[in-house]
Amino acid sequence: MKLFLLLSLSVYLFGATSFITDEEYASSLYKNPRGIGCNNCHGDNGKGKLVAKYEQKGVLKEFKGSDITNIGFKDFYEALDTSIPGMPKYFLTKDEIEALYRYLHKVKK
Ligand code: HEC
Repeated sequence: MKLFLLLSLSVYLFGATSFITDEEYASSLYKNPRGIGCNNCHGDNGKGKLVAKYEQKGVLKEFKGSDITNIGFKDFYEALDTSIPGMPKYFLTKDEIEALYRYLHKVKK
């Protein structure tokens, strides 16, 4: 009986990871990519977002995350593989970048 419980518990625990779909995985990666979530600057659907307005030397400026749903995979990949001023540097694997790309192209409206 004890062994049976133990076995069903481990099946439940280890099996559980496969219950999340690719889309759920990518959605959580987008919001929590080992660093500040992409959604904070690029918006929930990747269409871009106005993050802050500020004044610099008397000129009103805006800090915006761009629309990242309208670029090809190569540009998307390269952007995440280099440093972009204003954007944190991430260390994502190719699989993770692909998952994010697929996710953004699905949620694009
Ligand atoms: C702190 C804000 C911030 C966060 C967080 C952020 N970005 Fe960015 N991102 C930027 C800014 C600013 C740019 C440059 C926009 C521009 O050139 O107009 C940029 C540019 C990009 C580009 C290039 C866009 C283009 O048109 O070439 C991609 C792709 C991108 N980000 C993807 C992501 C992804 C994916 C994440 C999460 C892993 C992320 N960003 C997180 C601010 C951010």
